[in-house]
Amino acid sequence: MRALVFAGDGRVAIVEAPVPTPTPTGAVIRSTLASLCTSDVHCVHGARPLPIGRILGHESVGVVEAVGALVTRFTPGDRVVCGAIASCGLCNQCMRGNDAYCEAQDGTMHFVSRRNGTLADFFSVDYADRNLAAIPADVSDEAAVYTADMLTTGFTAAINAEVPAGGTVVIVGQGPVGLAATMALRTLGAGRIVAIEPDLQRADKSRSAGADYVVTNAEDLDAVLSAGGGQFDSAVDAVGGATTMDTCVRLVRYGGTISNVGFHTGRDTLELPMGPLRNGMSGHTIRFALTPGGGELIGRILRLIEHNRIDPTILTTHRFGFEESVAAYELMESKSDGVLKPIVEWN
Ligand SMILES: NC(=O)c1ccc[n+]([C@@H]2O[C@H](COP(=O)([O-])OP(=O)(O)OC[C@H]3O[C@@H](n4cnc5c(N)ncnc54)[C@H](O)[C@@H]3O)[C@@H](O)[C@H]2O)c1
Ligand SMILES: [Zn+2]
Ligand SMILES: [Zn+2]
Repeated sequence: MRALVFAGDGRVAIVEAPVPTPTPTGAVIRSTLASLCTSDVHCVHGARPLPIGRILGHESVGVVEAVGALVTRFTPGDRVVCGAIASCGLCNQCMRGNDAYCEAQDGTMHFVSRRNGTLADFFSVDYADRNLAAIPADVSDEAAVYTADMLTTGFTAAINAEVPAGGTVVIVGQGPVGLAATMALRTLGAGRIVAIEPDLQRADKSRSAGADYVVTNAEDLDAVLSAGGGQFDSAVDAVGGATTMDTCVRLVRYGGTISNVGFHTGRDTLELPMGPLRNGMSGHTIRFALTPGGGELIGRILRLIEHNRIDPTILTTHRFGFEESVAAYELMESKSDGVLKPIVEWN
């Protein structure tokens, strides 16, 4: 089979690789559609050490090709989404409900960091009953692929932000993750959604995703506060890096909540302004989260798509055949041509 792999020195390539076979709890999926992610770019550029030849990708849908003897919920022919984080359900972290940090799967992104990812003609997943979600007949592969990572991350960001019904929220960054968070906050009942996004095309997309106001000058916090009608109940950091958490702290009221899903490198140190944090007595909650493991949240988000509550296909900007997946990756890496999400299709 063909696979898109890490080729060393920040490069990727399509190579021949053996078709995987399922473990007793696992399944092998024939790929039908996948999307590229900013996290793939982080992986290739050393966020975690990768061996040359490691298959990339963690946002995929397909058809079950084969299952292990212990799999009960899926059979060959089922259309499925495979979650970006595959967890075991049995380790200490899983049993505490922290399945994003499953110990059996390296404590972080299951795919790629420790084993092969999904960007290949076929891919395998362990604990298939737990980690796959069946796609409803009326939901397209293209809509479903966004539940593998973008929407589960967006919903996690929104759930962790704990916006009261009708409350106000600011989202820093409207890349695909921030846009997914905007859709989720709208669905969960935020009363006023203000997004900060300097890129004008993305700012436009933010309005389609459900933002009520978009501020394009990320430095102009007065404009953000004015759009929010004062300090916000909650903030979502969908960028990461040194400065955006500072922005969130300055924008959220005492007792409010800040929800981070942005990527910080291991070398980043966050400096927080202690004035707005009332010398450490402000009642703020700050949460850091990875998208959850398993297919349970995916199943619920698929229901929201099935019943037309959200349409994640507004994130698709480019389409490639799998044979062009190096170009799809390079587009994501360069973030050129107005790219949000490139999808890769198998014919
Ligand atoms: N926590 C998780 O589970 C999880 C899952 C997937 C991705 N991520 C991470 O989330 C981050 C966002 O992903 P993405 O694909 O949307 O990335 P992206 O780079 O496409 O989008 C980031 C956006 O933030 C904007 N931005 C940059 N600086 C800003 C500032 N100071 N204020 C406001 N906006 C600013 C950029 O213009 C861009 O549109 C990435 O770092 C990715 O690795 C986390
Ligand atoms: Zn991803
Ligand atoms: Zn586990």
